[in-house]
Amino acid sequence: MIRNQWYAVLESKEVKRGVLTGAVRLGEKLVFWRDAVTEEVFCIADKCAHRGASLSRGKILSGRVQCPFHGLEFDGAGRCRLIPANGRNMEVPKQFLVNSYTVREAHDFIWIFWGSRTGSLPQLPWFDDIDDTMPYISMRDPWAVHYSRCIENQLDVVHLPFVHYDTIGRGGQTLVNGPLVVEEGSDFFIYVYNALDEGHKPLKPEEIPPPAGKRQYLHFRFPNLWQNYIIDRMRIVISFVPVDEENSLVYMRYYQSFIRVPLLKGLVNKLGMLFSIKILHQDRRVVETQLPRKHPTG
Ligand code: FES
Ligand SMILES: [Fe+2]
Repeated sequence: MIRNQWYAVLESKEVKRGVLTGAVRLGEKLVFWRDAVTEEVFCIADKCAHRGASLSRGKILSGRVQCPFHGLEFDGAGRCRLIPANGRNMEVPKQFLVNSYTVREAHDFIWIFWGSRTGSLPQLPWFDDIDDTMPYISMRDPWAVHYSRCIENQLDVVHLPFVHYDTIGRGGQTLVNGPLVVEEGSDFFIYVYNALDEGHKPLKPEEIPPPAGKRQYLHFRFPNLWQNYIIDRMRIVISFVPVDEENSLVYMRYYQSFIRVPLLKGLVNKLGMLFSIKILHQDRRVVETQLPRKHPTG
């Protein structure tokens, strides 16, 4: 897994006030909670510095996490502030500390910076062309592969007529022109020019003229965000969330703002999401069989 990056690891709604949320992310057991007053979200290792009990089984007391075993209390920086057995006036030894993570909340996601916090942190990755007021519906889907395999699949245009032969790859367009990939820093834009095989050689990327006007593209934002730009007012956005070396969670959103009539909007969103899930599961069916489960560069 690529260090020193921001990762969207949970949706905001998954971290509720007054509740400890335990989750495995980036190969680590973590516990999240939301401050009852400021709403700030904290994340520390879900392993007590005393005898290793899971802190997420404990409770929140005055903004701190109380371990369920012997009651040690940890703050959002992972420092133990109280060892009840020693009395409230005893200083807590410095080694009673667990790892803590820098957390941000934006675009209805909880993000953690996974790496060493030296110097200033990079900006949160996101799609500048998606306005936070744009409505969406979302789902979460477990995949039994490393997240590098999920990403590899979403950038692969060759599989379309095979994996999605009866949906988005209908029509047997097995000849792959290009694809045209435009790189801009941490962003990659992929334009698909698959065609019917009529005996001609596929075009090389440099033989494809730059796309005129807005057309559909795939957009990958390093390290784990992806969108399918369909039209300005309809997008599929995915955060491929690393769980561990063999598991990921696909957080998928269907954004749609061209229909506003309430009942019709609900229906269109539901159908759009159902179709997106069908496509996603066509991918999952094959990707979960890949060996090794992790991409060699992952
Ligand atoms: S294991 Fe947590 S207080 Fe003892
Ligand atoms: Fe696919």
